[in-house]
Amino acid sequence: MMFKDKVVIVTGAAMGIGKAIAAAFAREGAALVLGDIVADKLSATVEELKAGGTRVVGLAGDISRVEDANALVDLAKNTYNRLDVLVNNAGIMDRFLPIGEITDEVWNKVLGVNLNGPMYTMRRAIPQMIEQGGGVIIDITSAAGLGGGFAGVAYTTSKHGVVGLVKNTAWMYASKGIRVVGIAPGGVNSGISLGGVPSEFGYAQLAKNLATMPRSGEVDELANVVVFAASEKASFLNGAIIPVDGAWLAGG
Ligand SMILES: NC(=O)c1ccc[n+]([C@@H]2O[C@H](COP(=O)([O-])OP(=O)(O)OC[C@H]3O[C@@H](n4cnc5c(N)ncnc54)[C@H](O)[C@@H]3O)[C@@H](O)[C@H]2O)c1
Repeated sequence: MMFKDKVVIVTGAAMGIGKAIAAAFAREGAALVLGDIVADKLSATVEELKAGGTRVVGLAGDISRVEDANALVDLAKNTYNRLDVLVNNAGIMDRFLPIGEITDEVWNKVLGVNLNGPMYTMRRAIPQMIEQGGGVIIDITSAAGLGGGFAGVAYTTSKHGVVGLVKNTAWMYASKGIRVVGIAPGGVNSGISLGGVPSEFGYAQLAKNLATMPRSGEVDELANVVVFAASEKASFLNGAIIPVDGAWLAGG
């Protein structure tokens, strides 16, 4: 068990990739702190994991609100008195809206959840990790964090921003024993919503790239890489963005 007596926070853990990440850490013996905005599904995930013998607490909240993000990070210390791994997974899509169609509302919401959220949790977690002599942060970015033709402008900008969060934080805190790794999924069968009716024009442009995807992945195929990247086995992995995409980006 690679994470016995280790404490792991996962955001957006009620369903999809985040739920699979939580379950994968649970199988490795971790104690969990799970966050999500959908309270009933979060409770169901927490109860499922508890029934399997995992130590787990959940906190419903909106990661784009600094008070909620801080409370989630603080819950690790308050419950288990430590924090070893922070996984920033919560994310939303942008209906494939290009710049000519983006509204302030969609821009602010997508940037708030996908970029401000991870910034808030990382800022809160870093002092605790420094105090403990180290820690690992895994940020879920996207193929859209590495290329321009995979989503709308807000999602693409937010996920490119996450790449900056990973690289800058890894560089700044490498000497403190903290590792920061970005995982960039390609298409995954998670049931993620487009966020509403997609832009017809945006979708027509993206369809050219979507058609080149060799296959979409399963949530466990992402979760397994996250657990490895957070483990001691990956001790020299720091500041890197790892595409987990079945060779989709390799073909670009
Ligand atoms: N599914 C894909 O194809 C794909 C591809 C690339 C990247 N990603 C990224 O993977 C991550 C997980 O996505 P998924 O596919 O599992 O989607 P999902 O919709 O199944 O899961 C996302 C989770 O985040 C939660 N969430 C949404 N807004 C929140 C908020 N404001 N505060 C707290 N929690 C919130 C949702 O309730 C949900 O449980 C996201 O960051 C997404 O951008 C997904």
